[in-house]
Amino acid sequence: MIYIVYSNPANKRQYCIQYKVKSMSYRAFLMLLIGAGVGACDQPARVSLKLDPARQQAILARGLDLKQLESGFAVYEKYCQSCHGKDGKGQPGDWRVKRENGLYPPPPLDDSAHAWHHATPVLRKAIEEGSPPDMGDMPPWKNKLTDREIDDVIAYIKSLWSDEVYKHWLEIEMQSRS
Ligand code: HEC
Repeated sequence: MIYIVYSNPANKRQYCIQYKVKSMSYRAFLMLLIGAGVGACDQPARVSLKLDPARQQAILARGLDLKQLESGFAVYEKYCQSCHGKDGKGQPGDWRVKRENGLYPPPPLDDSAHAWHHATPVLRKAIEEGSPPDMGDMPPWKNKLTDREIDDVIAYIKSLWSDEVYKHWLEIEMQSRS
């Protein structure tokens, strides 16, 4: 039995292909590789959330869980990044100016816009319900993502903020809880 690990550069997931040496010809094996025979194997999918040591330390100091961040990053990459940009940096142009279609562009979710002005329940609601129709084109996520995936992606968004912004956000969070 041979195991081949295939890493898809597009989504950084790993798949593994099992090949039974005796029961399949080389040709059939090639067909399997070329065809849709690449299945996710029982190894957990690996995503590469790259964190430098300083960011890792900041994240741990915030009580965010690195495993949760990895899942949040996977959710973000799959469902959010196309609009909110890599590392939550948004799209080129001013996110405060409506586009020709009368809707706001997807704002950055990092320090540079105002996602960090919102306590967790407000962020959750924005994600669950999507954009109000006259504001933007974000779809609602509540039936598409599990509660856990939403928690995870919120944790990932929090990990994008600098220490200073995180401190401000924490005050807002505390006020919302009192
Ligand atoms: C089709 C594009 C699109 C996708 C995909 C998308 N969003 Fe959005 N998002 C927007 C737009 C446009 C807005 C701004 C308008 C508004 O506030 O509704 C927004 C607003 C937000 C806000 C509020 C930001 C603020 O500053 O108040 C959050 C949080 C957010 N999105 C998170 C997410 C998450 C998490 C995902 C993935 C699960 C996601 N978005 C996927 C377009 C998108």
